[in-house]
Amino acid sequence: MDVTPYSCKTREDLAQEYKVELARFEACKAKGLKLNMARGKPATAQLDLASEMLTVLAAPEDCYDGAIDARNYGELSGLPCAKAYWADMLDCKPEQVFVGGCSSLSLMYDVIARAYSHGLRHSPRPWCREEKVKFLCPCPGYDRHFTITGSFGFEMIPVPMTPAGPDMDLVEKLVKDPAVKGIWCVPKYSNPDGIIYSDETVRRFANLRPAAPDFTVMWDNAYCVHEFEGEYVPFPDILSLCAQAGSPDLVIEFASTSKITFAGGGMSCIAASEENIGYLTKLFSVQMISYDKVNQLRHVRYLKDRENTIALMKRQAEIVRPKFQVVFDYLEREIDPLGFAHWNRPTGGYFVSFYTLTGTAKRALALCKEAGVTMTGAGAAYPYGIDPADSNIRIAPSLPPVSELREAMEVFCTCVKLAALEKMLDLS
Ligand SMILES: Cc1ncc(COP(=O)(O)O)c(C=O)c1O
Repeated sequence: MDVTPYSCKTREDLAQEYKVELARFEACKAKGLKLNMARGKPATAQLDLASEMLTVLAAPEDCYDGAIDARNYGELSGLPCAKAYWADMLDCKPEQVFVGGCSSLSLMYDVIARAYSHGLRHSPRPWCREEKVKFLCPCPGYDRHFTITGSFGFEMIPVPMTPAGPDMDLVEKLVKDPAVKGIWCVPKYSNPDGIIYSDETVRRFANLRPAAPDFTVMWDNAYCVHEFEGEYVPFPDILSLCAQAGSPDLVIEFASTSKITFAGGGMSCIAASEENIGYLTKLFSVQMISYDKVNQLRHVRYLKDRENTIALMKRQAEIVRPKFQVVFDYLEREIDPLGFAHWNRPTGGYFVSFYTLTGTAKRALALCKEAGVTMTGAGAAYPYGIDPADSNIRIAPSLPPVSELREAMEVFCTCVKLAALEKMLDLS
């Protein structure tokens, strides 16, 4: 293979390269593939590791947390053992924890929805009565976060990500606007870049001084124990940093076991100041008598504590790591020498964030689709689904078996090259 960077090639050479890639594309198409790398779903083998979850509660007498019968109504903010579990996981106090149902995203939605309908603890009025609500969206970011704030009609303001987390100079400037009510954050193994916010970034978040009294940092710690390479990386507890900085209510943290036990069948939580937990519990009590505490108990009995959870995640890592390795190998071999794209090489989380030649991501993914490989839509990681550079592509390698992943990466590499060549040759 000729591995001269595209930028150093003559037009004739590029045209020749285009012919080669087009032939590869047609060959891929002819295979009639039907592969999906669209979402970060765990593979069956990962789910199987948690099979003990299915039997851990076997008899009525197993269903008690002390004197509390998990099968009955009550304990809206969660079983005491489940609060203790999450306090251990997130380095906070059990009183700072609200344990929910099977989805942290749903808790995030509920917090935003309550802010909109009733207001948060420090809101002068519900957000629906504000003339304008703006929300900061570090991007690329998690598409479903943006869908939530978009669905309430908030104006979403993009904030570029840096290797240390969101651009904090810009965040500190933007929060001076009282219409700016919050920000989405995925602080460890951010979706999709896989970035771990630096200590300095976390400290700057804790010390933010927003103009809006009810400004809220939505701290989605979805990947808090999700290393697939290397040892567990400890991460600062934002809640105590906020308390030390005199703003205990600034951050509402979220987490779940969706990618520890069963995706969509896990246990979620909110961690926040005791006052925020009290306020939210009162609001949630209108919609709910109690969450599924049998599931909470099942999780605590199975996962036990942080140490045991990290041991399980190490076993998951054995399944996940080779898949990321396939992606990195393909990209390093097929794309890197050509010099038109770059990507992150995370050691945890669920994604590889790939940046192709400006203006060609949409086209590359349309070509992938034509060849039978479905990926997350181009632009999905940006507010309103618009990537101004049309460059970012999220690769989610966890679900397909390694053999399928290889086929999918073959198609992917061919399609990004083809789209880039079309652009360079003015064929698009
Ligand atoms: C950053 C982030 N937050 C939340 C979720 C969903 O979490 P849950 O299943 O707990 O709703 C995902 C799933 O991909 C995610 O990537």
